[in-house]
Amino acid sequence: MGLLLQSLLITATATRVFASCAYGTFLQPRATEGEEVPVSNFGYIGNIADTDSQGPLNWAALESPANSACATGTRQSPIDMTEGVFQLVEGSDIQVQVNDMPEGAEFENLGTTVEVITQGGTLVSGGKQFELQQFHFHLPSEHLDNGTSQAMEMHMVWQSAEQEIAVIGMYINVADGGAVANGTAPAAKRDLNHNSRFFRRQAAAPPAATAPTNVLETIFSVVDQISTPGTKVKTPPLVMSEVVDVIKANALQTYSGSLTTPPCSEGVAWHVSTAKLSVSPATFVRAANVIGFNSRFPQNTPGQPNILMISALGSAAAAVAASGAVPA
Ligand SMILES: *[C@@H]1O[C@H](CO)[C@@H](O)[C@H](O)[C@H]1NC(C)=O
Ligand SMILES: *[C@@H]1O[C@H](CO)[C@@H](O)[C@H](O)[C@H]1NC(C)=O
Ligand SMILES: [Zn+2]
Repeated sequence: MGLLLQSLLITATATRVFASCAYGTFLQPRATEGEEVPVSNFGYIGNIADTDSQGPLNWAALESPANSACATGTRQSPIDMTEGVFQLVEGSDIQVQVNDMPEGAEFENLGTTVEVITQGGTLVSGGKQFELQQFHFHLPSEHLDNGTSQAMEMHMVWQSAEQEIAVIGMYINVADGGAVANGTAPAAKRDLNHNSRFFRRQAAAPPAATAPTNVLETIFSVVDQISTPGTKVKTPPLVMSEVVDVIKANALQTYSGSLTTPPCSEGVAWHVSTAKLSVSPATFVRAANVIGFNSRFPQNTPGQPNILMISALGSAAAAVAASGAVPA
């Protein structure tokens, strides 16, 4: 709670509008109808020695003190999701609902990500209720799945009436070239015909990592129309139940972390699904050509010092060693 308040105070001092993972929440309200899609002032490339760099090592310096949590926060995201850093919550222990978008949805290129503006959805988790604002994509994944990077990660961003933020993260894999698009294996189909409850549950399980997720295929079918930052396009109709069913049917790894983009505000309720979505190889290439690289480096274990603070001590020690002041 203290951390959340602190982040809110930090955020309140931000002077410039920029788009991040929190775009469309109270932290960065969406541009009103007719206004242009804002393009982010931060980036992912560049080292700390280059003071013009907009990369993650310089996020705190880009906007001071608004972004200071990026360099000093001790519960920063993303992290390596290893045993012990998260609590498992069953999908059936949260309530999640997302409205379909039969007329399609606005799909924007914010420069740092591509984002779908949603049209309603509710998450109840930990006794709190949140409303869905948007979802967007990172490439490669920001969280690591027990040490392993995944092809992409989708972030569904939710906000409560008390202005708290929850994010559902879903890894996205690249499907096998030969996979069918609807993800139902012939064997499972046959079993479903037996009408047994057991096989019904099997059938509701997430598509194998090899089967492309239809709604992702639909969204990315138009991504090349927003290859220029600041542009937007309308997607074809989106059926969200496909993703919601996967979330509900599988456990989620939860922990309290931060936004993975400036201002890196903490107090974010992370829910990383243990199930994965997929896109076809061709769709992955289409998405990668527009998104490029937009993944913050893994942060320290929650509760441990910020990696950039440790690294600053390391560079100081290296400088001393290089000066010859300290015997090797
Ligand atoms: C995570 O990886 C380690 C080895 O690096 C392994 O021992 C452990 O079982 C894995 N945990 C899960 C949940 O897969
Ligand atoms: C679903 O997969 C089956 C093969 O398992 C295929 O015959 C069918 O056409 C597919 N349906 C769609 C909508 O892709
Ligand atoms: Zn994000």
